[in-house]
Amino acid sequence: MTDHLVLFMPSGKRGRFPSDTPVLEAARQLGVHVESVCGGRGICGRCQVEVQEGVFAKHGITSSNEHISAFGGNETRYAEKRDLKQGRRLSCSAKILGDLVIDIPQDAVVNAQVVRKDSDGRVIERNPAIQMCYVEVEEPDMHKPLGDLDRLLQAVEADWGFRNVAVDTYLYGQVQQILRKGNWKVTAAIHEPVDGGPATLVALYPGLKNEAYGIACDIGSTTIAMHLSSLLSGRTLASSGTSNPQIRFGEDLMSRVSYVMMNPDGREGMTRAVREALNELIDKVCTQGEIDRADILDAVFVGNPIMHHLFLGIDPTELGGAPFALAVSGAVNVKSSEIDLPLNPGARVYMLPCIAGHVGADAAAATLTEGPHRQDEMMLLVDVGTNAEIVLGNAARTVAASSPTGPAFEGAEISCGQRAAPGAIERIRINPETLEPRYRVIGIEPWSDEPGFDEAAAKVGVTGVCGSGIIEIIAEMYLAGIITEDGVINGDLAATSPRIIGNGRTFSYLLRDGEQRLMVTQNDVRAIQLAKAALYAGIKLLMDKQGIDHVDRIGLAGAFGSFIDPKYALVLGLVPDCDLERVKAVGNAAGTGARMALLNRSHRREIEATVTRIEKIETALESKFQEHFVNAMALPNKVDAFPLLAEVVTLPERSMDTAAADGVEPGAARRRGGRRNRG
Ligand code: FES
Repeated sequence: MTDHLVLFMPSGKRGRFPSDTPVLEAARQLGVHVESVCGGRGICGRCQVEVQEGVFAKHGITSSNEHISAFGGNETRYAEKRDLKQGRRLSCSAKILGDLVIDIPQDAVVNAQVVRKDSDGRVIERNPAIQMCYVEVEEPDMHKPLGDLDRLLQAVEADWGFRNVAVDTYLYGQVQQILRKGNWKVTAAIHEPVDGGPATLVALYPGLKNEAYGIACDIGSTTIAMHLSSLLSGRTLASSGTSNPQIRFGEDLMSRVSYVMMNPDGREGMTRAVREALNELIDKVCTQGEIDRADILDAVFVGNPIMHHLFLGIDPTELGGAPFALAVSGAVNVKSSEIDLPLNPGARVYMLPCIAGHVGADAAAATLTEGPHRQDEMMLLVDVGTNAEIVLGNAARTVAASSPTGPAFEGAEISCGQRAAPGAIERIRINPETLEPRYRVIGIEPWSDEPGFDEAAAKVGVTGVCGSGIIEIIAEMYLAGIITEDGVINGDLAATSPRIIGNGRTFSYLLRDGEQRLMVTQNDVRAIQLAKAALYAGIKLLMDKQGIDHVDRIGLAGAFGSFIDPKYALVLGLVPDCDLERVKAVGNAAGTGARMALLNRSHRREIEATVTRIEKIETALESKFQEHFVNAMALPNKVDAFPLLAEVVTLPERSMDTAAADGVEPGAARRRGGRRNRG
């Protein structure tokens, strides 16, 4: 019998199979995950595939519907009862008769579902940790003393190959009733751990249970974002977010650690607060997705180390100071019932591993999403927050660190700073001739110099500048010549511009006059310089470790990262010089990583293995930190050139002082960049 070449898309896995091999069987043999709940009985419809017709010269395959068996009884029955889209086949019934290219659609919808546009449009190949296994169990017999549960487990092993399956205790009392209710036909939800350990029966349903859901959640210190996905189709049914109620205990991470240290019941209070918020969010996504929360069988959470610890009920005090010891750095597997998240009684919770004491499971999730470890290019991933989390690497080597940037980027310590909320200025341009600003405010559509702004501003109010606005204003002040590269507001300009206002020995820039005066003071500029210098120094230490003087790509992660205009991040010298086209906001990278781990357990294995290989650098212990920090106080930097940025933005000439300090002629710094080692 001739073997036929079969290629599965999108995985690209291929193999040869004899005639009459069911397509599902071929996929299994190649390790291609095709969903199946009914075990090939043609009743669940989860195993749908599509034949790609045509000549695939690259693969040497001519694929045609002639090369697959005709519609069989199971498929006809299913198509009559349910809606089998044109061109779709049930892979458990369809058999291989010739060379084929088989597409595994990511949207095999079998139940009417409220489907939300996917959170970021990314297609995640599915291989969830929960497998729904429909089985028909032998009825009891007086002559065979084997218990109902034992016969169920026998059927699970015979049909699905799971051996030595453990059973969640709560099911012992329910198994007989469920088996009888289902007339000996039941669906077992089996949880398979990543490490290859024994599988567990976590839930049992009478009859065919053709759906299972999971949640993926990023617990940020400011906001919490949650997605509800079908574990069987991969679709996102609902997404929602809320602010982290722990804010009432402290705006930034360190103040929350201090709160725990100062208050005997501080840890409990914050754990309770975040779990309550999560429970409310779960209710919300379930309502939106029109599902019962008892149908949620799996959940993945990510967060920075302090959020991670507080969520799990761990005291984060040790993370408040050197050596920043994590209570647990590896991936955490618990039952949702153990952490006060009532879902299905057997639901599991998985937390991605933390990379280091200040580089958490959120950074691990962002790493999983962006995949520096999967590529040759040197990629820098930065999550800008109170403590910036930095990952730098490629397939050969990845290093990570955190840098104590402080809360300046979040608007704290800045006289006009505020959180990103309606009324906050988020975009700013300054005319270099007149020094007049124009800006855009959250909640107001027109820019400040456009018709309709004043009316809208009267309603919304213009109350401050948010983090991304602060980056822009300092960068724009530098580009307009209002501040020098050393960060000094040039008082000489006060003679020609009413926007420059003297106060004692320093000067301020008047951004907005009116009921609420918004000024950028010399202290504000300093606070941003200190924060960005700390971040840049951390990045430089990692670049030193890698022995490189440039990066190929930059991803700005986190809520704040998604709003920073990459151009201004470079002008300010927040990150090293890079082709502007290759600096991207990857805002929801942590949330996407959580979804990847939810929908595919091999991603759990991948990130667990990657994290053990990531080298952690403690910035506080590195002697060069101070030197890098001092150089990074200048805009964009005292010694590092930004030639790629200079190609797209006219940067002010460097002053004699700085160039001399650098040991080079004025203007030469930029030229020096052209000779940098790009290998
Ligand atoms: S596996 Fe259920 S219909 Fe094919």
